[in-house]
Amino acid sequence: MLKPIPIKEDLFYVGVNDRTKHLFENLWPLPKGVSYNSYLIKDEKTALFDTVDVCYSDTFFHKLEIALDGKQLDYVVINHMEPDHSGSLGLLKSRFPNVQIIGNKRTADMVQGFHGITDGVKVIADGEELSLGKHQLVFYLTPMVHWPETMMTYEKTSKIIFSGDAFGTFGTLDGGITDAQLYPERYYDEMIRYYSNIVGKFGSPVQKALEKLSTLEINYICSTHGPVWTLPDQIEKVVSIYDKLSRYQGDEGVVIAYGSMYGNTEQMAETVAYELAQQGIREIILHNVSKRSHSYIIRDIFKYKGLIVGSPTYNNKLFPEVEYLLSKVEGRDMKNRYFGYFGSFTWAGAAVKRLAQFAEDTKFEVVGNPVEMKQAMQLDTHDACIALGKAMADRLKQDR
Ligand SMILES: Cc1cc2nc3c(=O)[nH]c(=O)nc-3n(C[C@H](O)[C@H](O)[C@H](O)COP(=O)(O)O)c2cc1C
Ligand SMILES: [Fe+2]
Ligand SMILES: [Fe+2]
Repeated sequence: MLKPIPIKEDLFYVGVNDRTKHLFENLWPLPKGVSYNSYLIKDEKTALFDTVDVCYSDTFFHKLEIALDGKQLDYVVINHMEPDHSGSLGLLKSRFPNVQIIGNKRTADMVQGFHGITDGVKVIADGEELSLGKHQLVFYLTPMVHWPETMMTYEKTSKIIFSGDAFGTFGTLDGGITDAQLYPERYYDEMIRYYSNIVGKFGSPVQKALEKLSTLEINYICSTHGPVWTLPDQIEKVVSIYDKLSRYQGDEGVVIAYGSMYGNTEQMAETVAYELAQQGIREIILHNVSKRSHSYIIRDIFKYKGLIVGSPTYNNKLFPEVEYLLSKVEGRDMKNRYFGYFGSFTWAGAAVKRLAQFAEDTKFEVVGNPVEMKQAMQLDTHDACIALGKAMADRLKQDR
């Protein structure tokens, strides 16, 4: 689609879909692709909100030029400098040399560093306003959601928040742009994955940002990835998803993430899961860390309160993929989880000790007794795994 898509009078979508890239940030799988959203307001002055990944600049500039329809581009507001959005800024500046680049002090430093641009940069302060004619912009600095320069721009007349990565999701926009034009439910899990993978470490800055926005009336959330949120119930829903995730609040349910080379440690995971189900827990998700990308495991750890990790001993350490997962959990300052663990060995165990250290470092509430298995499952290990499952179920049910 070369034509810009009108979202409402004077507001156009000029973003693009990426169905080519396999890994976002070269880390996170994109089975449903991703969109890089960019928006244009046409008023007495014209303002563009963010750009797109440079790989898609050609399509982007076609759309932008059609949307401008001969008008000049007066401003480009940079809410976030990560190159999935600012990648086309250098090219934009060469096509529109008179454009004013709008950002805060930290943005200006990055504009210079990434693109060598120093002229035509307008530095704004928190709360500063800019008139486009009928439309009035207000800039809100929201540092560390998830870079230090991140900000959001509010348009007062139509009550639009250009939120940057906040409220963004993986998944392309297939035909429709707004929540009213597509099935928004399809994006919730991808929003949680996007948040937990990319923004997850920054719960407290996200809380501060939400607090800052809490007094604003919002009719449109225009984020940099995924649908434009316009329906009141959907706006409420996505704000509540962000609020809950940034408080590290999980739902009742258990993620069992395990490593296993020959299936013995896996039997421990199966046994714990069996007992959880017997005890009436319905959300039980087993992840084999060697097969499932950490992206999805982290998503589910953000979704559910219960976390159980199991690992064989591998060269006197934890199984490497389990160790990698633990580093991802620690790296996100994950909080408020009930934690259980089990491990195995054949001649000298190390896995369970390392998991105990992890429990201490994260300050998770340890539930049940850790289970350590030698070689393969016997009745005593079976019973200990059942007891671990029961303890986790009991703990979760206390919160009902
Ligand atoms: C490459 C490799 C390295 C291992 N290193 C150790 C070790 O250092 N100490 C130990 O007690 N067991 C070690 N084991 C045995 C495992 O911890 C475990 O008992 C065995 O793989 C069975 O569990 P599984 O079926 O879940 O893979 C190792 C196994 C493999 C294949
Ligand atoms: Fe980003
Ligand atoms: Fe982004």
